[in-house]
Amino acid sequence: MNLFIKNITQLVTVAAHGKPWRIGPEMRDLGLIGEAGVLCRDGKIAWVGKMSEFRETLPEDMPEFDAEGSVVLPGFVDAHTHLMFAGHRADEFALRAGGASYQDIAAAGGGIISTITKVREATKKQLKRSAARHLAEMMKHGTTTAEIKTGYGLDMDSEVKMLEAINELADEEMATVVPTFLGAHAVPPEFRGRPDAYVELVIERMIPYAGKRHLAVFCDVFCETGYFDLAQTEKILTAGMRNGMQAKVHAEELTPLGGAELAGALGAVSADHLEHITDRGIRALRDGQVVAVLLPGVSFFLNHRYAPARALVDAGVPVALASDFNPGSCMSYAMPLMMTIACTHMGVSPEEAITACTLNGAAALRRSALEGSVEVGKNADLIVAEVPDYRYLAYHFGTNHVTHTIKGGTLLEIP
Ligand code: NIG
Ligand code: FE
Repeated sequence: MNLFIKNITQLVTVAAHGKPWRIGPEMRDLGLIGEAGVLCRDGKIAWVGKMSEFRETLPEDMPEFDAEGSVVLPGFVDAHTHLMFAGHRADEFALRAGGASYQDIAAAGGGIISTITKVREATKKQLKRSAARHLAEMMKHGTTTAEIKTGYGLDMDSEVKMLEAINELADEEMATVVPTFLGAHAVPPEFRGRPDAYVELVIERMIPYAGKRHLAVFCDVFCETGYFDLAQTEKILTAGMRNGMQAKVHAEELTPLGGAELAGALGAVSADHLEHITDRGIRALRDGQVVAVLLPGVSFFLNHRYAPARALVDAGVPVALASDFNPGSCMSYAMPLMMTIACTHMGVSPEEAITACTLNGAAALRRSALEGSVEVGKNADLIVAEVPDYRYLAYHFGTNHVTHTIKGGTLLEIP
């Protein structure tokens, strides 16, 4: 689609200049342009610059959008979500408000396992319908690309049902969808006490099935005490890579198990969560060039410790922020809220937060050559926010400032 966005009061480009991400002090440079314009042609960005330097004569039928008084920035890339699920866990939310912990609830048979029961009962059509609704709402909050994980099926048929549903959404929905296989999200009840037998099912049947049909770009594991240990995680991720998937890992969320070191050693694309990461883990991510995907909404929602974002950025690890949207540990997909929490509780600056939600989010999905910044040749995925300054997105929280989301050059008005 074609579109000329003109008179942008403040354009945040997050220009990467060919690099996959911004690290360290570079994360604070947003590549701002005042009084700017962006030309989108055939769904791609064709020109970016100051209005005063625009020389092209546009065809009569070129749609134009006047962004005077607004900030324009790259669409958010939410690199970690579990947005496909059935049912809800408002009961657990209430229990936590009364003092129960996430771990207490899981030990009593709630948590991930309770969502599994609901997902197994749901049809593919039902899963798709609710996920599509979430995706549409996410676009209203500026998300133009979302990763979606399986992991609420945990048997062959239900994991395949989720994989197919996610891939169909990728074809049908406007947002870009990136599928991740997370068969190792928890040990299902029928394998209680026999985790290795479940790991074998994941490796011998689920991964080859998904790999052969190209149903997942990434393979992920919840590497945690009571879920999958380091040896099991390594086996699963190695099998995933052998079958054409790239590795991601839920690491150091509740305990410092060493998932970050494993991610570095395996050359994983990202290590996510990291609330309990050690200095050794930080060095492993930096040396292995693994993207740290931090999930502020989880710490906020569960009242858990926050990941050491400052130390990770200062060490030169590429840091991304994502929502982790799921019914248990973060019932929100609003990326601006994640930025607010990162700024108020994690020592992240508003500039670093924007870089982490855009370019570095794209890097966590190996998509930064396509999106995450406003640069010629990238997908025309943009957000228009009616605010006087880009910092307002994180600063004025709890309300939606996005007036338009532009996906592949198509302008969506947000009511
Ligand atoms: O990323 N940590 C593991 N998985 C999710 C929680 C999923 C759930 O509670 O349903 C997470 O926080
Ligand atoms: Fe997660």
